[in-house]
Amino acid sequence: RPWTATVLTIFPEMFPGPLGHSLAGKALQRDLWRLETVNIRDFTSDRHQTVDDTPFGGGAGMVMRPDIVAKAVDHAVQEGAPGPLVYLSPRGVPLRQAMAQDLAKGPGVVLLCGRYEGVDHRVIEARGFLEVSIGDFVLSGGELAAMALIDACVRLLPGVIGDEASLKEESFASGLLEYPHYTRPQVWEGRAVPEILLSGHHAKIDAWRREQALSITKSRRPDLIGTSG
Ligand code: ADE
Repeated sequence: RPWTATVLTIFPEMFPGPLGHSLAGKALQRDLWRLETVNIRDFTSDRHQTVDDTPFGGGAGMVMRPDIVAKAVDHAVQEGAPGPLVYLSPRGVPLRQAMAQDLAKGPGVVLLCGRYEGVDHRVIEARGFLEVSIGDFVLSGGELAAMALIDACVRLLPGVIGDEASLKEESFASGLLEYPHYTRPQVWEGRAVPEILLSGHHAKIDAWRREQALSITKSRRPDLIGTSG
């Protein structure tokens, strides 16, 4: 059974969205991975299909009810949705390339997308969700974050990227940001491609690229220096 992303959401129509295009979309058509959505609203029992309620303790916004969310999660898991349970939230642990690699090596992932102010914390604890953030900014829901996480995993699956060498060369494989890339024309708007890249000296080119990667990482992401990635 191919690697499977199961997405629990009140907006299943947002999927596959961008994941139906380009690399991930072609891989989806080739059955290299599967996408399942579960509409959380299908697990309500009232006439208005209410998934949220006001927060205890007061404050702005609405919170998704644990009983409704748990029914959706338990249904997905009973149906055989494979992989760890992940709740997308700006208060989660940061998504890293290493986590995408670990998830891509496994059978799949179950992604819970919150809306409103979030999901009642008890369901996160009770079902053992790992809270994951895709960055220090607030999206209006977990769906775009889930898509980002899925894309990061899918491109690592065997056969999705034809040229496997490109995965080893890319940013974060080395633990550093990538060196700059150039193609034709050799001079464009008066800007020449760096000489060294035209020299044919592969050892010198590699050394130049390492130096470029190191200097851009020092200036933009000093936090990445001296870590394994
Ligand atoms: N939901 C809203 N903002 C998010 C973020 N930054 N990461 C993951 N999920 C989110």
